[in-house]
Amino acid sequence: MRSTRMTLALQGGHVALPATGMIAVFGPESADDLMALPKDRVLAITRFFPDHAAIAAQGYRVATGVSEPVGAAIVCLPRAKAHARALLAEAAEAVPAGAPVIVDGARTDGIESVWRDLGMRVPVGQPLAKAHGRIFAFPAGPELADWRAEDARIEGDFITRPGVFSADAPDPGSVLLAAALPPRMPGYTVDLGAGWGYLSRAVLTRAGVKRVDLVEADAVALDCARLNITDPRAHFIWGDATQFRADGYADFVVCNPPFHRGRAADPGLGQSFLAAAARILHPQGQLWLVANRTLPYLAPARALFRVVEDFGASTAYRLIRASHPLRPREA
Ligand SMILES: C[S@@+](CC[C@H](N)C(=O)[O-])C[C@H]1O[C@@H](n2cnc3c(N)ncnc32)[C@H](O)[C@@H]1O
Repeated sequence: MRSTRMTLALQGGHVALPATGMIAVFGPESADDLMALPKDRVLAITRFFPDHAAIAAQGYRVATGVSEPVGAAIVCLPRAKAHARALLAEAAEAVPAGAPVIVDGARTDGIESVWRDLGMRVPVGQPLAKAHGRIFAFPAGPELADWRAEDARIEGDFITRPGVFSADAPDPGSVLLAAALPPRMPGYTVDLGAGWGYLSRAVLTRAGVKRVDLVEADAVALDCARLNITDPRAHFIWGDATQFRADGYADFVVCNPPFHRGRAADPGLGQSFLAAAARILHPQGQLWLVANRTLPYLAPARALFRVVEDFGASTAYRLIRASHPLRPREA
């Protein structure tokens, strides 16, 4: 959300908030400025752990869903269409009929087509165009019920939901990594950025596995993982993989690291995942990682591990196996 866009829209009467009652803000990111809103009335709704923690640290109330009466809703539009629709439906259901649902989004996130689509179902207000985006409001009602998030059952009999990584099919990079994993993976594995569980399910088919920790920041993806993996050796951890403290040292880390922080590409995030792997692995432990070939992970891997093998995998993806992590005083 752009604070200036919201301030101007409120001042110009393009959108209005009720004088009292909580305001649920759906999908804010930590970089979003909520200053235009009365802080004590804001309930930020985010499923993404790092945003959740950062917004809470700014003194806002934060939750993963609405479980109390709210008088208005603001949707920070995500880019994926199904996710955007699901969030709009959730917002319209969270407030009383007729209460305002304000939609704020960048042009690059498809705000214009969302405004047009909504206009075919509900009386949308005139948008204010500002700062490469638009903001407008519509009165809540039951018209968006069919946009609600539905579970999808995809290839491999996995359950996913809108907004999770690779919601329509397993990621081709993860498919390559799963096929390359060794037949024996004795001991304790950590899946950093586990998503809805594709890699962990593959790990659990290998011999000798005692425990797998699925560490994932997206609470909805982790909920899907809980449905996809019912093996008692699996542990589900909603958290920030870059800060994860393992239960002792791990024997294996598997990882298809994220390369976006919110809407922005950020290869540094993947490098933080590599550093986390080096920190939590046993001295003889192994990291098995897949990434898009264009991403710069080989050099950081070589700075963090004594042995780094580049499997070459395909023209699009690189598989890296790394072992003998260098502890900070050695690296
Ligand atoms: C490229 S996806 C891989 C997902 C899954 N491992 C797979 O192979 O399908 C990266 C995952 O990391 C998650 N993620 C992003 N930032 C994270 C963080 N700081 N801590 C934990 N997970 C994070 C994303 O939500 C996403 O599910």
